[in-house]
Amino acid sequence: MTPLLRQVLSQIDGPDPRVNELVSALVTHLHAFVDETRPTDEEWLAGLAFLVETGKACTPDRDEFVLLSDMLGLTSAVDQVNNDGPEGMTPSSVEGPFHSPAPERELGAWISAGPERERGVPTVVHGRVLDCDGTPLAGARVDVWQASDTGLYDTQDDEQRPGNLRGLFTADAEGHYWFRTIRPSSYPVPTDGTAGRLLRVIGRHPMRPAHLHYQVTADGHRPLTTHVFLAGDPYLDSDAAYAVKRELVIAPRPRTDGWEMDVPYEEIEFTLGLVPLDRLPRGG
Ligand code: BEZ
Ligand code: FE
Repeated sequence: MTPLLRQVLSQIDGPDPRVNELVSALVTHLHAFVDETRPTDEEWLAGLAFLVETGKACTPDRDEFVLLSDMLGLTSAVDQVNNDGPEGMTPSSVEGPFHSPAPERELGAWISAGPERERGVPTVVHGRVLDCDGTPLAGARVDVWQASDTGLYDTQDDEQRPGNLRGLFTADAEGHYWFRTIRPSSYPVPTDGTAGRLLRVIGRHPMRPAHLHYQVTADGHRPLTTHVFLAGDPYLDSDAAYAVKRELVIAPRPRTDGWEMDVPYEEIEFTLGLVPLDRLPRGG
């Protein structure tokens, strides 16, 4: 340890030991980074300017810092250290920067009501919400959101009505939920901000594999934020957000009948397992 780092660490002595631990570790790693890479003054100031610009780009509908954290795999790293649980728990995955309040909808409703519905592959998504022992969670709340086939969420796109491709559903007495939509497409994350600039300079593509986002809550259970990904997508192994987990990849099935559909469609079945709060690992 350098004398300078020792001096900095010796002065971290706030009232909250956890804050002291986090700040000390962060400062230690940053000093190690400086020792290892020996940035010039200009390089260091350019790095700080990049962070300032990232902060200035944040709005209620777009969080460039979340995007940056996602693109560097940091959000997924935090997810990995926090979301272990018993067998039967659906793995979590990153929330991303585009969650916003969804309109409450009846089971079976279409969440797609714009022109994308004419262009897209009709898709029925259904499953159950269970606790990790298999008990149905009646009344669980299932909040879903997805991008249009143009790769944009309603909050980014003047062509979509607010709430398009979003829905908040309540699972029935057996924990079943279902809704209708269009098949999700792979799409690029926004590249017009600092996160996009970083992707370009490190030679990384901005694509996310086709997915639907979920946030599921039920009384007495740990809320679950996750995705379902579509099998066969070319970007499953190189997701720009590093959010793919094997258990979350589902193959849509072609169907011609059932689920109140009068045209051929694809079916995605995705059942979610939540952990009761009294079965969480310590500290979880
Ligand atoms: C998303 O899928 O909405 C998303 C997730 C992480 C980064 C950017 C977008
Ligand atoms: Fe997304």
